[in-house]
Amino acid sequence: MPSIYQPAEDSYLLLEILTKEIPKILEENQHLQFLEIGSGSGILLETAKKLGIKREHIFAVDINQEAVEHCKSLGFNCIYSDLFENVQGKYNIIVFNPPYLPRNSKEPTDSQLATTGGAEGGEIINEFLKEAKNYLEENGRIFLLTSSLTKNINYQNYHKKLLGKERLFFEELYVWEVTI
Ligand SMILES: C[S@@+](CC[C@H](N)C(=O)[O-])C[C@H]1O[C@@H](n2cnc3c(N)ncnc32)[C@H](O)[C@@H]1O
Repeated sequence: MPSIYQPAEDSYLLLEILTKEIPKILEENQHLQFLEIGSGSGILLETAKKLGIKREHIFAVDINQEAVEHCKSLGFNCIYSDLFENVQGKYNIIVFNPPYLPRNSKEPTDSQLATTGGAEGGEIINEFLKEAKNYLEENGRIFLLTSSLTKNINYQNYHKKLLGKERLFFEELYVWEVTI
């Protein structure tokens, strides 16, 4: 079974942005529904909880069963799902720190599930964007992480706003607010 993704720069950049943005959204709506696709270690679920989102309003999925079991052991409602396959309902916030790197034959298969987005890197993000609008409440927001290494992302008719970026040694990371 693939190992659980250990929080890295991408996780921490998204955490920083969520910490700035979620309190503002909570002011407008105390009952907001939060969904994370690909929750991994659960670091962003813990963030959502700490920021004041009710545990019963936090929902998560992952394609790695080990990550699902781990997030469940932390007390979160997490299920196995390939993107939205097993997701129901609509959410005010959808968070995705996706596999975003172009395929690299040197990458161990164990970690590819968490890091490799396809031949160009943007394929899983594009699948996500195709479906996400069906699971977003009116005025809902997507918080999406991408990298300068991710190629050919198709944002369709979504609006996007850059909320944060970080330069690393070999790439630049971005956090986008994406809305319908
Ligand atoms: C880069 S890691 C991010 C983990 C965690 N959210 C974080 O920020 O540290 C990507 C996560 O997405 C999961 N994942 C990859 N493809 C997926 C898919 N098609 N559907 C659901 N989860 C997926 C991986 O198993 C992994 O846990």
